[in-house]
Amino acid sequence: MTTGRIAGTGSTTPKRILTNKDLEAIVDTTDEWIIRRTGIKERRISSNGESENTSDLATSASIKALKMAGISPETLDMIVMGTVTPDRQFPSAACLVQEALKASKAVAFDISAGCSGFLYALSVANNAIATGSCKNALVIGAERLSCITNWEDRNTCVLLGDGAGAVVLTPTTNNDGILSTQLESDGSFWDLLYSSKEFSKVPEILDTVEPKPFYVKMEGNRLFKKAVSCLADIAESALAHHGLTSADIKLMVPHQANLRIIRATAEKLAIPMEKVYTNIEKYGNTSSASIPIALDEANREGLLKPGDRVLLVTFGAGLTWGASVVNWSM
Ligand code: COA
Repeated sequence: MTTGRIAGTGSTTPKRILTNKDLEAIVDTTDEWIIRRTGIKERRISSNGESENTSDLATSASIKALKMAGISPETLDMIVMGTVTPDRQFPSAACLVQEALKASKAVAFDISAGCSGFLYALSVANNAIATGSCKNALVIGAERLSCITNWEDRNTCVLLGDGAGAVVLTPTTNNDGILSTQLESDGSFWDLLYSSKEFSKVPEILDTVEPKPFYVKMEGNRLFKKAVSCLADIAESALAHHGLTSADIKLMVPHQANLRIIRATAEKLAIPMEKVYTNIEKYGNTSSASIPIALDEANREGLLKPGDRVLLVTFGAGLTWGASVVNWSM
């Protein structure tokens, strides 16, 4: 059976670092509270003048992934991007990446699935490869959440950050690619995390942020509990689909929303934290970008070897959630 194999990874984050200390001057919070409740120490914030729009970050991450895979943009058949913060309402950010890469043969489109956007995109591209309608695919998760952050709301502004990650998928018949991807959605909980129709006032020290006419609203407490149970359940289901258990996993790369959510999920799955990749302390929650950034960093740090099984697991607005088991082959 043909599936997609991850042949290259890449990531890019904006230059500007916003620390917890910086946030203490913006809202009523403390470095100590943020670290204790979330694990976040700093996050990256994109700037207008620095070519750090969502599609710019995505293009930069994609170039690195393509280089690692040894694939030229002209041979891409598909570019699919998970994002809730495209540069414009339309055209899609994926089309802007296609133009920047001169990937003229590729069909390009965005997917809106909250923080689960990358895994939804991975699933679509993998299915296209499995059916033979696509050979080489570029799968991206990219966000500029600073533009839709309410900088007056301490419940959310301390959590979010900007960045992009990408993977290149090529076809394989050797059982050395994506083994399974499970996705779920439940719109009845849409109001736990959504964009409200209000403008955010941006503080002076963040004058390079370009606010959009809506911002993130979240019921953090209820979301927290839902996240832990959905993440653990879907991870178990993705593993069981291939007769695997959590003991077969070399590395879990979860969506980086909150270190306490990650720890609770790992505990439920009986996966020790040494086998869980986290970088939330550096980037906060970058929504669709968090898994491909973490996967790229784990890969470049040499944590993965051919034959290792990797568990990707995510949860986000919608509600949406998903898990994927990958046989690593790089
Ligand atoms: N600094 C200081 N105090 C803060 C704060 C901040 N940045 N944000 C909230 N608080 C306060 C609250 O006002 C509340 O005060 P009160 O007890 O006087 O009312 C107190 O801290 C506890 O708030 P609570 O919301 O219960 O904290 P929590 O432990 O649930 O942590 C989140 C809050 C947002 C970090 C946590 O709920 C979370 O991570 N939720 C899920 C996030 C998520 O999954 N997001 C998207 C999915 S992709």
